[in-house]
Amino acid sequence: MMPRTPISPSVEITELASKRFTTPRLAYDSAVSLDREYRPRLHFTPAKNWMNDPNGLVWHKGEYHLFFQHNPFGTQWGHMSWGHAVSKDLIHWEELPVAIAEGDDGAIFSGSAVSIGDEIVAIYTRHTETNQSQCIARSSDNGRTFVKFETNPVLDENKKDFRDPKVFRYQDHWIMCAVQPWDHQVSFYKSLDLVTWQHLSNFGPAAAINGVWECPDLFPLTLAGSEYWVLLVSLNPGGLYGSGTQYFIGDFDGTTFTAMYSTDEPRWLDYGRDNYAGVTFNNEPNGKRILIGWMANWEFVKEHPQTSWTNAMTIPRELGLTKYANEIVLTQQPMCELTYEIKVPMPTTGIVGLEGFVKVGYNADAKVVFIDQFEASYEVDADELHLKVVVDQSSIELFTGDGIRAITMATFPPLGSSRELVSFSQ
Ligand code: FRU
Repeated sequence: MMPRTPISPSVEITELASKRFTTPRLAYDSAVSLDREYRPRLHFTPAKNWMNDPNGLVWHKGEYHLFFQHNPFGTQWGHMSWGHAVSKDLIHWEELPVAIAEGDDGAIFSGSAVSIGDEIVAIYTRHTETNQSQCIARSSDNGRTFVKFETNPVLDENKKDFRDPKVFRYQDHWIMCAVQPWDHQVSFYKSLDLVTWQHLSNFGPAAAINGVWECPDLFPLTLAGSEYWVLLVSLNPGGLYGSGTQYFIGDFDGTTFTAMYSTDEPRWLDYGRDNYAGVTFNNEPNGKRILIGWMANWEFVKEHPQTSWTNAMTIPRELGLTKYANEIVLTQQPMCELTYEIKVPMPTTGIVGLEGFVKVGYNADAKVVFIDQFEASYEVDADELHLKVVVDQSSIELFTGDGIRAITMATFPPLGSSRELVSFSQ
């Protein structure tokens, strides 16, 4: 028998295409090439069709669950349902069938999930043309299927816009935060059973308000033995570039969230264009606070190339706190193997970094870290410059080693471009 010569997938696909197709060849070729070229290796994407916000992030009985805003029928936004994927390590995801599908009663907008004994309970926004209200659905098969609560909604303020409930355990009860998008407010509620909710307080308007507020999250983190509360609020538009996420550090006393710094100026979670609607896991077994965001931007997503899926999630990030410029700030550390890492004596002048399909690095004259045109001020008193870079087929994420700055960019270089970067200094 002749030994078989292995052929690379690219050769195989090109040959098949030319044999099977005569006229629509261009379209076929380009669709195949786009999919092959841009499908991420490290980042979660659905096998096909549209995805936006991460939803219902929860660890339950040995699995991390990533539900997500999903159109099961097309590559554009619509028919909002909760798609579903599970992972043991937050990197390798197995996509499962749609968990909660759009129904006659409305679409399934963003929300959260909690683990109670053997059950996962999802708390989501039911969306109709005239009303948004909060509903619950229960799963007793580890999130594979859900049964909607008979007497949904559980929280209805008779509003057209009122959405994105994040529920978490607080002492002996549940707290929900949800947004009043046009009032630029996060509303807090309390419940003993996830069914009857009592309004506690509102936070906002504050800091960035040039867009609707969406997808809030509230959680505690500790720094030097003290507990602080972090409130995340996404807004669209009104971020640095279209949609973006701001955060507040402060205190939550069980009723009210109070920001501890002036809220005249926003504090941004990310200085790139493509990290939106990020929220954190409930019930994380190692006590970590882990965020996943949607790696896109409502203003620019229409420019993404036509692949058979639309959009990826950011790499999961462990959140923490540190001191920077006399304030306590939020930090982010990528939870994956790095593609590149820079560790050099802290330059006092010039630019150092990596270049190729993008330019990424630190400009010591301007005191900024950057990916192409996206910059974040970065002034630390350190002997070493430490940068962490995660490159994938259609994205790049930059983190400072201390986690103080993150820049996230979805990018679709011309077909055939190398994703390799080489170091430079100037
Ligand atoms: C944020 C958002 C949410 C909403 C969902 C709908 O990206 O607009 O406020 O629940 O997307 O898909």
